[in-house]
This record gives sequence, C-alpha cells and structure tokens, in this order.
Amino acid sequence: MPEFSTPRGTVDILPDEWRYWDFVVDRARRVAELYNYRRIETPTLGDVSLFVRATGEATDIVQKEMYAFRDQGGDDLALRPEGTAPVMRAYFQHGMNRLPQPVKLFYIERMYRREAPQRGRLREHHQFGCEAIGSADPFVDIEMLALLRQFFQELGLSHLALHLNSMGDSACRPAYLQALTAYLESRANELATLDQDRLTRNPLRVLDTKETKSRDVVSGAPSILDYLCEPCLEHWNTVLEGLEALDIEYQIDPALVRGLDYYTRTVFEYRTQYESAQSALGGGGRYDGLAETIGAPVTAGIGFGSGIERLILTMRDGGLEAPPPSQPRVFVAHLGSEATVVATKIATTLRGEGIAAILSFGNRSLKAQMKAANTSGAAYAIVIGEDELQRGSVTLRNLETGEQTKLPQSEVASAIQSSP
Ligand code: HAM
Repeated sequence: MPEFSTPRGTVDILPDEWRYWDFVVDRARRVAELYNYRRIETPTLGDVSLFVRATGEATDIVQKEMYAFRDQGGDDLALRPEGTAPVMRAYFQHGMNRLPQPVKLFYIERMYRREAPQRGRLREHHQFGCEAIGSADPFVDIEMLALLRQFFQELGLSHLALHLNSMGDSACRPAYLQALTAYLESRANELATLDQDRLTRNPLRVLDTKETKSRDVVSGAPSILDYLCEPCLEHWNTVLEGLEALDIEYQIDPALVRGLDYYTRTVFEYRTQYESAQSALGGGGRYDGLAETIGAPVTAGIGFGSGIERLILTMRDGGLEAPPPSQPRVFVAHLGSEATVVATKIATTLRGEGIAAILSFGNRSLKAQMKAANTSGAAYAIVIGEDELQRGSVTLRNLETGEQTKLPQSEVASAIQSSP
C-alpha cells in the first residue's frame, strides 16, 4: 500500500459509481436546458474578499470553513466554497447585464468547505446550481422551483419536502431583526453556548441551529412572515399562488434562514424525509442585495444549489438505479507475436468504426483469453491464430450462443455492426 490516501472529507469517484454521476449530470443538464438555462463554469479559485463580502462575515463558511490562503505572489485566494458569488461576478465582468434579462445560468462545479466530514457531508462536493440574474419577477422564483421539482422527479426522488420562507428585504428585515434579538436575548440563558455566541454576531443564524438545547427557544421565536413589508408580502403571495397553480407542494417554514447572508425574500430548501443535518438535497433563494455587496449596481437574482453526492446517496438508499454503463462489443484474442500486431490493427479499426473493443494483453493461452472474454461483458470474441493469420481471416464467436464463423479481416467491422 502507498503511504497516501485521499485527504479527509474528499473521495475518489470510482468507475462503478460513474453511472450514477453520468445519469444525474445528464438529467441536470437536460432539465436546465428545458428551462433555457445556459452553462457557465467559473474558476475553482476566487478572491477571498468576494466570498467574505457576498456570503457574509458571520457565516460558518467564512468563519470556519473556507480554504483560504495567500499565494506566492501575495494574492488572497480561496477554493470556491459556493457558486453564486462567482457567477454574479462573471455576470458583470462579461457584460451580461447588457443582455436581455434575466440571464439564466447553470453550473456543475466542485465546492470546498472545511466541514466535519460525515455521510453526505464532504469537504469537496459537487453542486448542480442555477442562477437567474436581472429580474425581480416572482414568476422567476416559481419557474425555478418548477425546474427543481422536475429535476428531482426525473431522478426518481419524488418524496421530498419543499420548505419555504421569505427573508424580507432591507426595508422590513431590520424591524424583524430587532424583534428577534429582543426575544432571543430575553431567553438567552436557555440557548446552547454556541447559539448565545451566534446571537451576538448574527441572530438569524440562531434560527438555523442544530443544537437540541436551543430548539424550544427557536420554536417560539417571532416569524419573519409577520414583519414583511407590502412589496415583500405581495411577492410572497404571488409565489405561493404560482406554486399552487403548478401543484407544487410546499411547507411554510419560518425557521428556514439558510446558511448564507445574501438572501432576500424567497428562500427554499428541498429535504428528504429523514431528519438529519444532511437532509438538504438542494436549497437557495433570492439575493436581490448581493450585487451591491460586491460593488456592482443593485441587481435582482435568484438561484439554488443541489449537492450531487447527496442526491446519489439518496437515490442508492432508496434503491433507485441508474442506467447501466454500455458494455464492450468485442473481445480480441490472439496467439503468437505476429497475430498480436494484426489483432492490434483490427481492434484499432473497430474502435475507429465506433465499436468498443477490448484487446487482450500478455502471452496468454487461448483458453485463458476465452475465459477473460466470457467475463468481460462483450457480446463477441474475435480470434486470430496461426490459421487465421495465413488466410487473412478471423474467427468470430458469439459469446452467448457459442456460434462461430470465419470471415475475412476486412469484413469484421460490418459483420459486427449488422449483428444484433
Ligand atoms: P448551500 O445550501 O450551502 O447553498 O448548498 C447547496 C446544496 O449543496 C445543499 O443543499 C447540499 O445539497 C449541498 N451541500 C452543501 N454543502 C455540502 C457538503 N459539505 N457536502 C455535500 N453536499 C453539500 C449554496 O451553496 C448556495 N450557493 C445555493 C444558491 C445558489 N443560492 C442561490 N443560488
């Protein structure tokens, strides 16, 4: 064994797992395109201050989880902990604010957070994300939730609960924060120590708590929905009506505040029925104030991210299968050094014709090669021995029926192509 293995919280994606990955990524791309989202990819590295300003100084991501470092040239960089801030940065950097709005972008990217690794919680994970930037229309929210529902349905994940809340905006949130702070302070001694600390830095984060001790206090907290200003309330009601028109079930959850500071108005999370820290299969919301925090003109936006590792875990836990990978068609066996060269040429020709071929390696007996052919998953074997070499032919064997025919080397590709 070598002295190394994967760093904590990171995993190798092994060949047997790729059918799930290919399936999920294919569905993600397909659904995004059905809703007219176009693909973007931003660099894995971003400015530390972009993430600090966008996601918020007091968030776990910035406080504890970001892989940040100063490089040899003195630049402060971070491994991307989330996808929204860099997409917003790219939107302005490339003049997408001058295109017809909203600009709808999707990504399938790796994210890095130094969290405590657990099942479904990694330090390097992948997200399928969508961002619609440049419109405050509540129907953009509704369309996005329809997209997300269709994505989960296409994966076979039909029993997810959609949690929904509004975070208000800069007009109404201050009054809510005041009421929330007053309430939490009045019961501070009943909160877990961690939440007492959160209360001083960012009281909204207390609503997000995973601490059992704080649960009772949190369940009695004032609801932001009672503090929404007129425009936020109108937006909220339109979103609810739209979801009802599309038969999208939801659960209003005033404790849903999400772990990033940039949210305004609609926030949402799709969860599995299993209550655990890893139950969130996708979440997001509006971020109408984000552009301003990174020095750009006020620009509305909404988006979500969905963790691909968690989706695959949930699919597998639920016994959902991904389509099997395609099998090789032909196993090319040969005997003798001259035959090896001919076999290599034939295998290369077959692949050039789009036929997946396995070329046998090493000086193995024909018996050993046929055994390998039978377990390879190939439908046919080609054998090139002394006799075939002299005649310029091959023996083509149907591995299922055992039927054999001899045919000229030049006809192998078309014979296989026309066989079932
Ligand atoms: P987030 O809720 O932090 O939001 O992450 C989105 C999703 O990524 C989660 O619901 C979860 O499925 C997955 N995820 C997050 N952290 C991990 C982890 N450590 N291991 C495995 N999966 C994980 C965001 O990142 C926002 N940028 C989403 C968004 C887009 N909001 C607006 N636009």
